[in-house]
Amino acid sequence: MADTVHYSELGLVNTRDMFKKAVGGGYAIPAYNFNNLEQLQAIITACVETSSPVIVQVSKGAREYANQTMLRYMAMGAVQMAREMGSDIPICLHLDHGDTFEICKSCVDSGFSSVMIDGSHLSYDENVAVTRKVVEYAHPRDVTVEGELGVLAGIEDEVSAEHSSYTKPEEVEDFVTKTGVDSLAISIGTSHGAYKFKLKEGEEVPPLRFDILEECQRRLPGFPIVLHGASSVVQEYVELINRYGGKMEGAVGVPEEQLRRAAASAVCKINIDSDGRLAVTAKVREYMAQNPGEFDPRKYLGTARKELIKLIKHKNEAVLGSAGRA
Ligand code: G3H
Ligand code: 13P
Ligand code: ZN
Repeated sequence: MADTVHYSELGLVNTRDMFKKAVGGGYAIPAYNFNNLEQLQAIITACVETSSPVIVQVSKGAREYANQTMLRYMAMGAVQMAREMGSDIPICLHLDHGDTFEICKSCVDSGFSSVMIDGSHLSYDENVAVTRKVVEYAHPRDVTVEGELGVLAGIEDEVSAEHSSYTKPEEVEDFVTKTGVDSLAISIGTSHGAYKFKLKEGEEVPPLRFDILEECQRRLPGFPIVLHGASSVVQEYVELINRYGGKMEGAVGVPEEQLRRAAASAVCKINIDSDGRLAVTAKVREYMAQNPGEFDPRKYLGTARKELIKLIKHKNEAVLGSAGRA
């Protein structure tokens, strides 16, 4: 059995303070997923260099791929690495899309400072019940909890949703009161992955449902809202992937303009995974094609890591507004 450790011993922080400042300051905290060393190094380097608070998050898929204990030690290393770079940016280690109480408990016990319980695939009452149970376990340990209401289109880890259903603002107040969650992910038209909208020739990406967001905000002033599925699906990377042997036709994401608008509102956490995956894949494909004799993973992963740093700095500075807020 894995040993029990509290996140404060690892130098991590929960989301409470981060969100309070972000809601007041009109910006959003970036939440970047990581599964390996290069991703985590890039996130920390970019956030230190832009002086941004950061949430590093671990999905169920990441826990299966890299091992939960390994990821926790990596987060501990990340805190140390930031300090050695002369920085004390707040770093939160968050469970992304926890789908059971047991997974959330296991993360709380093993050093995570924040957990998401995603009961969006359950009935409303079941969602309330499991979210409440996680809050009751997490709060006495000062771990913050994110819930979700409404279903995003696409694949949510192993929670798949054929069709999205937008969050009903009239349920939000009741859900937050009954569960005691610290933040809430809502569905306003984003979705996971690289194919967020099916566009016909000449069609533009439809706007997010800012009316739903505003109504949630009106009912719960100052309450932290979370946006999942918020990658922009950077076209420069899609083009590189397609040029060097990939096949990603019709990949499209949320325009940066819309994310800027969301970040300035009650949205205080923006989740980004796919854009990082695209950056890495584009650069690895390009490197492989241009250097057919190279077989040192540090070469092609190093190139990918460099691009990831550039991407994350851009997000923090020009999209989320978190740069300079550490
Ligand atoms: O929300 C989904 C995240 O992008 C994580 O995806 O389960 O493939 O790690 P994953
Ligand atoms: P993207 O697939 O748009 O990057 O969303 C990631 C996410 O929501 C992780 O929880
Ligand atoms: Zn998500």
